[in-house]
Amino acid sequence: MNQKISAIRDRLGKELCILAHHYQADEVVRHADILGDSLELARHIDGLEARHIVFCGVHFMAETAAILARPEQKVHIPDPGASCVMAEMVPALLAEEVLARLNRDGARIIPLTYVNSSAAVKAVCGNHGGSVCTSANAPTMLRWALAQGDGVLFLPDANLGRNTARILGLSESEIERLDIRGQGRFVPAADPTRKLYLWPGLCAVHAKFNAGQVTAIRASEPHALIFVHPECDPEVVSMADGAGSTTFLIKAVAEAKSGSTVYVGTEWSLVNRLAARHPDKTIRPLRRALCSNMAKVNETNLARMLQELDTALPVRVEEHIARPARIALERMLTACS
Ligand code: 13P
Ligand code: SF4
Repeated sequence: MNQKISAIRDRLGKELCILAHHYQADEVVRHADILGDSLELARHIDGLEARHIVFCGVHFMAETAAILARPEQKVHIPDPGASCVMAEMVPALLAEEVLARLNRDGARIIPLTYVNSSAAVKAVCGNHGGSVCTSANAPTMLRWALAQGDGVLFLPDANLGRNTARILGLSESEIERLDIRGQGRFVPAADPTRKLYLWPGLCAVHAKFNAGQVTAIRASEPHALIFVHPECDPEVVSMADGAGSTTFLIKAVAEAKSGSTVYVGTEWSLVNRLAARHPDKTIRPLRRALCSNMAKVNETNLARMLQELDTALPVRVEEHIARPARIALERMLTACS
């Protein structure tokens, strides 16, 4: 498998670039030219010269790359069925309807979507003065969005929204978690005392971590460090020693003293890799939580994808969606440059 991939890489040279997210398995990561978190990977697209960009991650990441790539570049994903459960919790039409309901009495609520969302949801944000954030820049982007209007509709991750609001010092009375069951029927018009409306989405992987696990570790191993991703429940985040993007977690583990025990509350493939990379420390998952969609990409379908590069259908986003989605993404890249 390895040899097939190497042969294609040798043949294509700079015509090919393989990007991989930190949650990819080692068998994929070892072939990556660029490894990063969602923000870093999105930032790299602009400078890429390669004609073929192969994105090892979930579909919204490849879609984001396709939106930011030049027209002559082709973006491929080894398994197009690698979706993100959270991204699927926000249908674009419903987001548009909920936004219209919030704004119906003349308020200006700005939509801000986590990058873990479809291109169509990013397009809704682009069309209504909003933008995109990642877990690495959520505080900067929420501050930016709050300054643009009367309040913010944050989609789709309610945990990231609330954790970020706490960093910015918003009070609980300024935050409302929307109840959007019933096709948005129950969403009220914007209330001037509220600053932030949270879409009730979550990550099924990070939802596996809870305060009871943290309490048990604190009781049995009082010197252990605990770092978590901000998609975790706010109670878990408030009890941890630090929270941040996958890149933050990698740095936090690297900076922990030799001999220390560190628990990491994020996807298993990354925690596993960190444990192997730091044999002088004890690195443990808060709980073993694998993203089954990230795991759909493997060395076998990567090799197959590379063999079929010239005939495979690339990831495509129709221009009427790509244009406003690009505007939303570029607002983020500019605000965080
Ligand atoms: P990062 O923003 O850290 O890349 O995380 C992306 C993600 O999907 C986390 O579940
Ligand atoms: Fe989506 Fe969660 Fe998997 Fe990240 S870990 S890709 S948010 S399902």
